[in-house]
This record gives sequence, C-alpha cells and structure tokens, in this order.
Amino acid sequence: MKYPNIFLIGFMGSGKSHWGRIWSEEMHLPFMDLDHEIEAAEGMSVEDIFKKKGEDGFREAEKHHLRKIKNNVGLLVACGGGAPCFSENMTWMLKNGVVIYLKASPQYLLDRVIEEIPKRPLLKEINKAELLFFIQKKLEERKPVYNRAQIILDAKTLTKERLSETLQEYFSQKNKKASVRP
Ligand code: S3P
Repeated sequence: MKYPNIFLIGFMGSGKSHWGRIWSEEMHLPFMDLDHEIEAAEGMSVEDIFKKKGEDGFREAEKHHLRKIKNNVGLLVACGGGAPCFSENMTWMLKNGVVIYLKASPQYLLDRVIEEIPKRPLLKEINKAELLFFIQKKLEERKPVYNRAQIILDAKTLTKERLSETLQEYFSQKNKKASVRP
C-alpha cells in the first residue's frame, strides 16, 4: 500500500517519537523526528534554540522544516508537541497528509515527562508541585487543535501493529464513503 505522509501529534510524553520509530520499522516507512531535524539544521539542541532564539525562533524553524516536507512521500513524522498549534501548521498538515493525535491524560503525560524535564524548555521553569496543573492547562488550550486530527488514538493502548491496522481501517472507510453515490 502506498501511504500519504503521516503526522503524529500530541502533548509532550504521549509517545510520538517512541512509536514513530517503532512503526516506521514495522511498516518500512521513512521516518522524521521534526525536533531532531531542526536540531541537526540549527546545530544545537531544542533547549539551546529556545535559549538563543526564544520560543518564537524555535516556532519559525519548526514551521520552516515542516513546510519542507513534500506532499505524498509517505513520510512518518513525529512532530513536537506544540507544532500543530502555531503558524497554521495543523491546517497545512491536514492538507498534506493524515494527522494522528496520540491522546493521553495529564497524569499519564506527567509520569512520562518527569524524568526528562531538563530537556524540555517549556517545563523546566515550572515548579514541580505545579507541573500537573501546568500540563492540564496547556493541554486544555491545545485540545481544540489536536482534536482536528483525522485519527485519534489512545496513547495508553498502542502496539506495534496499531498504526497499520488503523490506517487500513481509515482508508477502507474513506473508500467506502467515496464509492457511495448520492
Ligand atoms: C514542545 C514539545 C517538544 C519540543 C519543544 C516544544 C511543546 O517536543 O518541540 O520543547 O511546545 O510542546 P516533544 O513533544 O517531542 O517533547
């Protein structure tokens, strides 16, 4: 099967990079981690980009590298958690591929990010006791954008077969709808 681009979105800690790597091997799809792409091009870590260029500078780079992806090349892309929420990136992704939201609860996300706080500029400055509240608030803010994804998966129940099963189901439903005549 020939796939369109697939964009994995969701909050920090939802497993986009982890599952992206597993699924790309499983399905023999080329893989891009958008944060790593930006880091390689800028020659510094996301954390240093935030320090040197501010969040605006990082969001510019994010937009630039996302827009470089060609339409319909079957690339599986793990996006940074904020990527869909800036610069009309979500609209662009929906036009240029299938967007999959890995959905998780704030507590689940907190449990996953807690060990990696120093690498995450948005969480670094937050007092530990307030992290859960911060995640709840940010997730609430981002929810309307994340929910525009064509496919929503529960991040807790993912397996290595899940992406191929989901896409098969999604495309067979789409084809069925397309073959129904008015
Ligand atoms: C961000 C998420 C990070 C990274 C940057 C900003 C966000 O990516 O892009 O620190 O705004 O949610 P991950 O979601 O891969 O951690």
